[in-house]
Amino acid sequence: MPYNRKVMDHFMSPRNAGDMESADGVGKAANQVDGDVVIVRIKVKDGKISEVKHQVFGCAAAIAGSSAFTEMIKGKALEDALKISRQDVADYLGGLPEGKIGCSILGPDALKMAVDDYNSRNR
Ligand code: FES
Repeated sequence: MPYNRKVMDHFMSPRNAGDMESADGVGKAANQVDGDVVIVRIKVKDGKISEVKHQVFGCAAAIAGSSAFTEMIKGKALEDALKISRQDVADYLGGLPEGKIGCSILGPDALKMAVDDYNSRNR
């Protein structure tokens, strides 16, 4: 299955890409098989993700998946954002080729690390 139009759009024009100054939480997830790396940075206001940025070192699916994931979590309460699964991201994108969901959707793992980081700074 080739990449669909929505995946290609997020790959060619990633949303919320880049660095963030003074992030409240930073998380990094890596794929041990292909070596893809995703970094997610968040700002939190009133328990919600007020800003999110991501950086991806990886394939088209990893870039599109992280872009979509940041769109899905922006403005959400932390606990709701943490419930979004890899499959949810693939569904949002209208599907990904077989085998790509497990290896390329790293945003949920990176967000978990970012929220852990945020919580450790705010104890
Ligand atoms: S993570 Fe990109 S191909 Fe597997």
